[in-house]
Amino acid sequence: MLSKKLNAALNSQMNKEFFAAYTYLSVAAYFEEEELGGFANFFKIQSQEETQHAMKIFEYIHNVSGSATLNAIAAPRKEFKKPIDAFTFGLKNEQDLAGEIEALLQLAITEHHAPTQVFLQWFITEQVEEEALFTRYIKRLSRVGDDANGLLMLDAELLGRKIEATE
Ligand SMILES: [Fe+2]
Ligand SMILES: [Fe+2]
Repeated sequence: MLSKKLNAALNSQMNKEFFAAYTYLSVAAYFEEEELGGFANFFKIQSQEETQHAMKIFEYIHNVSGSATLNAIAAPRKEFKKPIDAFTFGLKNEQDLAGEIEALLQLAITEHHAPTQVFLQWFITEQVEEEALFTRYIKRLSRVGDDANGLLMLDAELLGRKIEATE
C-alpha cells in the first residue's frame, strides 16, 4: 500500500524530472543561439530523457494505485557565459536529482515499500551514468579551453548523439 507521504514524494520527483526536461531544453536554446548545433542536440536529447524519467514515475504512480499531479513549471535558466558553464550547471542539476532520488529511496525503505525500492534502482544507476556523462564533457571542454577549433570539433561530435530508448 502506497502511503500518502510516499505518493507525494514520488509526485514531487516526477515534477522535478519534468523541470529538468524544461531546464535542458532551455540550455539547448542557449546553444542554438550560439550556433553550436551539436551541443544543442546534446541538451535536446537530455531534455527528452528527463521527460522519459518523469513519465516512468507517472506510469509507476498509477501502477501502484497512486495519484499524479502536475505542478506549475518555473522558468528555467537560459544564460551562460560559455559552453562549459552550461555543462557545470547540468552536472550540479544531476547531483541534486541524484540526492533527491536517494532521499526518496530512504523514504521507501523507512516505509517498507518494496516495489518503490525496486523501482528506484533504475534511477540510481541512471544517475551514475548522467553524472559521468556531464563530468566527461566538463573535462573535455576544460581541455579545449578557448580553442575555437577544439570547441567546433566537440560540437560536431555531439551532433551525432541519438536518444537511447529506456526499457
Ligand atoms: Fe532524470
Ligand atoms: Fe538526468
